[in-house]
Amino acid sequence: MASDARQRVALVTGAAAGIGRSVTDRLVADGMVVIAGDIDEAGLAALREHHGDQVVAQRCDVTDESSVAALAELAAALGGLDAAVANAGKGAYGSIVDHPLETWQEIMDLCLTGVFLTIKHAGRVMNDGGSIVNIASLNAIQPAEGMAAYCTAKAGVAMLTKVAAMELGHRAIRVNTVAPGLVETAATSGFFMVPGVVDEFVENTTVGRFAQPGDIADMVSFLVGPQSTFVSAGFFSVDGGASTKRYPDLPGAFSRLAGPTAS
Ligand SMILES: NC(=O)c1ccc[n+]([C@@H]2O[C@H](COP(=O)([O-])OP(=O)(O)OC[C@H]3O[C@@H](n4cnc5c(N)ncnc54)[C@H](O)[C@@H]3O)[C@@H](O)[C@H]2O)c1
Repeated sequence: MASDARQRVALVTGAAAGIGRSVTDRLVADGMVVIAGDIDEAGLAALREHHGDQVVAQRCDVTDESSVAALAELAAALGGLDAAVANAGKGAYGSIVDHPLETWQEIMDLCLTGVFLTIKHAGRVMNDGGSIVNIASLNAIQPAEGMAAYCTAKAGVAMLTKVAAMELGHRAIRVNTVAPGLVETAATSGFFMVPGVVDEFVENTTVGRFAQPGDIADMVSFLVGPQSTFVSAGFFSVDGGASTKRYPDLPGAFSRLAGPTAS
């Protein structure tokens, strides 16, 4: 018997690589159509080639409001949005006293304002009962020397999530934060190249390993799916228990890499 049931629709930012790619793959496997946004057009083309009509891909820079609005507008032709995952983000390293203002602003724009714009425009076209998941970081609650902008932006995401959950709750839209620990992606390849850093990350988990993107996608799938309809304004660590311990000594690791300095 033919079914005319509409497929549920999700929007994912930073969908072309890493965690965003894994989330996209997982939501498609869950039966959703995914509107995928990223600045990496080659990565989007690969996603489209892999998933065919289950993915609608469009270049989107989450720091540009018109770009985010245009991505969200794609949902109209698909019957509105049922989920959104504000995932695009990256870090920067440098001590506060040496940090260029432009770098601080770049991280704030991408990691915090990008999430605000995604909630704003996805929220406008979201169907009642939808789910928004914001990807923060362990660094939202655990400070890391040399990562002031990133830590601050991610802490902001956790609070923005709670306010959004309050404002959108009257439409039964849920908003939650997912906070990954170390995940092996292109973004963290530098950590894997500095001797000792990954070992220190792993020692500071309780489960004794780092994550793969699929570990994060599993949590997103749960928060988007039908088994979490009483879950909102939450902060979900997916960090192998790392928030119970301490962040690796990045300045120490990087200075060992640079070698002894002349006095
Ligand atoms: N990898 C980790 O260990 C880790 C840990 C905690 C949190 N996170 C967070 O998870 C998210 C994804 O990280 P990842 O490790 O998968 O990174 P990644 O670099 O592998 O992928 C990020 C994707 O975002 C895209 N992107 C970058 N700037 C963009 C912009 N302005 N607009 C739209 N897309 C943009 C990139 O092109 C890329 O496809 C980020 O928010 C990151 O802060 C990652």
